[in-house]
Amino acid sequence: MIERIVPAGTETAEAYGDLPEATLFPEEELIVKSAVAKRRGEFTTARHCARQALTRLGAPAGAILTGERGAPQWPEGVVGSITHCDGYRAAVVARPALVTSIGIDAEPALPLPSGVLDAVALADEQVAIKELLASVPQVPWDRLLFSAKESVYKAWFPLMRRFLEFEGARLVFDPAGGTFTAHLLAGPAIAGNRTLHTFDGRWLSENGIVLTSVTVPA
Ligand SMILES: CC(C)(COP(=O)(O)OP(=O)(O)OC[C@H]1O[C@@H](n2cnc3c(N)ncnc32)[C@H](O)[C@@H]1OP(=O)(O)O)[C@@H](O)C(=O)NCCC(=O)NCCS
Repeated sequence: MIERIVPAGTETAEAYGDLPEATLFPEEELIVKSAVAKRRGEFTTARHCARQALTRLGAPAGAILTGERGAPQWPEGVVGSITHCDGYRAAVVARPALVTSIGIDAEPALPLPSGVLDAVALADEQVAIKELLASVPQVPWDRLLFSAKESVYKAWFPLMRRFLEFEGARLVFDPAGGTFTAHLLAGPAIAGNRTLHTFDGRWLSENGIVLTSVTVPA
């Protein structure tokens, strides 16, 4: 699924559960040494996916440590993103000549628990999501909004190295086109000599999974 919402030239890998052949480097083992089995499983399989994608990109597929605020530390000359949720793990990597930053996020295609939409959505986003839920009920728009915000953050963080609150971006979905625009209300993102007031995203809801991506092209 993931390759359908990321640009050509990126490399991806995904798994619909944990893979018995997935292993960790000793340095990665240390990151999850006290973790519960579920966390170990998703971390290990997502790292395995990331190494498959790195190999396809022709990049070193070594240990991927966890850096500042949880961001994965990619090898020199690689940008990428990792996601996992119940029943799905995925990674995407790209060369900076093509992509400056990328974020991906997967969520189960289920309504958000009660109260979460109010906590993560701006007032006008809540209105838009309620309208979409009424007009296109087969898509869990509230969960999609949540996922899209996570993708915005994962693309934002490597550029800005600071947290972005949920109210820091206002998202507008194109329900037919499978795209969305994130208006960066917290201030622009700086990508090299560019000042970005918006991020462009793509989304997909299939197989019980909601998937989103945000790409900042080079
Ligand atoms: C970090 C966060 C985005 C992770 O999202 P999630 O849906 O909980 O979890 P996912 O499984 O999809 O993603 C987890 C992966 O994201 C990556 N990640 C974590 N922190 C990151 C960061 N600061 N920057 C980029 N990627 C990050 C990691 O690879 C992590 O997996 P790993 O620990 O196994 O390496 C989320 O926990 C969070 O802190 N959200 C608050 C910030 C936010 O979303 N703001 C909205 C702005 S509009």
